[in-house]
Amino acid sequence: MPLHLHAWTRWNQRAARAQQTLRDLRTALTRPLGPPSRPGAEQRAPSQAGLRPLPAERLLTVVAVERPAPDAVTLVFAQPEGAPLRFVPGQFLTFTLPHPDGPLRRSYSICTDPADPDTFAVTARRVAGGRASNLLNDTAAPGMTLAASGPHGRFTLDQAPAGAPLLLIAGGAGITPLLAMVRALARRGFADHPQTTLLYGSRRADLILFRPELEAIAQAHPGAFALRLALDDLADAPPGALPGPLDAAHLGAHLPERLAPGAHAFLCGPRPMMDAAADLLQRRGLPAAQVHMERFASPEDGASAARLDAGPPRPVAITFARAGHTHAADTHTTLLDASEASPHPIPSSCRVGGCGACRVRVISGEVWMEAPNCLSAEEVEAGWRLACVGRPCGALTIDH
Ligand code: FES
Repeated sequence: MPLHLHAWTRWNQRAARAQQTLRDLRTALTRPLGPPSRPGAEQRAPSQAGLRPLPAERLLTVVAVERPAPDAVTLVFAQPEGAPLRFVPGQFLTFTLPHPDGPLRRSYSICTDPADPDTFAVTARRVAGGRASNLLNDTAAPGMTLAASGPHGRFTLDQAPAGAPLLLIAGGAGITPLLAMVRALARRGFADHPQTTLLYGSRRADLILFRPELEAIAQAHPGAFALRLALDDLADAPPGALPGPLDAAHLGAHLPERLAPGAHAFLCGPRPMMDAAADLLQRRGLPAAQVHMERFASPEDGASAARLDAGPPRPVAITFARAGHTHAADTHTTLLDASEASPHPIPSSCRVGGCGACRVRVISGEVWMEAPNCLSAEEVEAGWRLACVGRPCGALTIDH
């Protein structure tokens, strides 16, 4: 067979395998992820094996799928009968997704107004190499059921007192928790926060999520809500679009020199944008307590693998003081993973440093934590650490 036919055949075989994987995943995701119906019956999606179920997980049913941009999918869920989801704008859900590589836990912000009595939604943008985001984008369909816990998170609109001017800064998919805030504010005519500005950075005009709705809200509430779009590529940009990306230089130009007294800022987006914005806002006089940040990291972005001490793993002993048990671990293993391999698992939820559910107090020893995360400086000062993003630097005793 000519060489190019060999290549064509191999390509076809790979494509067929990929199609089959997608079909399998669609089947797994559409099947309720409950326990097997009878002993010996087919197990849950195979990739669920080995993942400790979250006590507060429940099954959510997708009733509609929307495409707010070519690279994103919105999953609209029905409110569970008898136990509707109650959340504050800015909170997120943590999903357990079956995957051939093993179950994945990922957190997605709820992007809808909590006043909606029937549905709520999350949006997932494709990430290069992102297993969960691509899985959802490729397989989402009405009727699918997904296991999720939550709502979680302290990045919530109620952190700002009524009347406070709001500065919302979003980058890319970071718009989702802020959209929930804007939708809730718009429902009340921005009565609670009549000076609200959303600065939203995107790579291109066609990748701006929810643009028609945001523009309609801005038009309906002039003077109360200002929408400022910033684009890396200004081709086809809407009138008035600002130059991006939202780096230190552009943020410095786009944000006012004098921030409104009592303002609260809510930031969500790529890590460099958030760091630059937080630094700038504090230099312009906004107290740290009035700058609220939501950060999500997935294993694909390398954050979980990064370590200050990049050397090979060293054995360490972790003592769970209340349990009176010492467990052998190593310096590359998170406290959460170490605890789950012991008889004393630490409660957890998002597993990405975003919710605080795995907070433990260190009695002695050092923990290196991925940063940033949801712990406040005061909590760190008081000895609290997050087990899901904390790794022991040496022998450790924790209050657990
Ligand atoms: S489980 Fe959410 S911060 Fe650790």
